[in-house]
Amino acid sequence: MNRARFQPQLQIFVCANERAAGSSLGSGCGDRGAVVFAEMKRSVLARGLASSVWVTETKCLGVCPQEGCAIALSHGGGVFERVTVNDARAFVSNLEGPRSC
Ligand code: FES
Repeated sequence: MNRARFQPQLQIFVCANERAAGSSLGSGCGDRGAVVFAEMKRSVLARGLASSVWVTETKCLGVCPQEGCAIALSHGGGVFERVTVNDARAFVSNLEGPRSC
């Protein structure tokens, strides 16, 4: 096993998991997560952070909110639930931008 050549400063995992109808765990983040994922990607690209902040759509993160979606942050940043598009926008706008020397 080799350490990958490229490493993000932050990786954001956004759950867009869909469950089958009638699941006791609810419908999953599904479309709510897909919308948050798209906004995270758009915001990261717009801020020029794509090389340092990676946004990855993923399956269930284990918290299964009934509203919004769940996201997890790399490097021990934690898991968040009930994340909305507005939360995604605010989160990315608060990230540090590229530094100049
Ligand atoms: S379905 Fe999204 S956290 Fe479980």
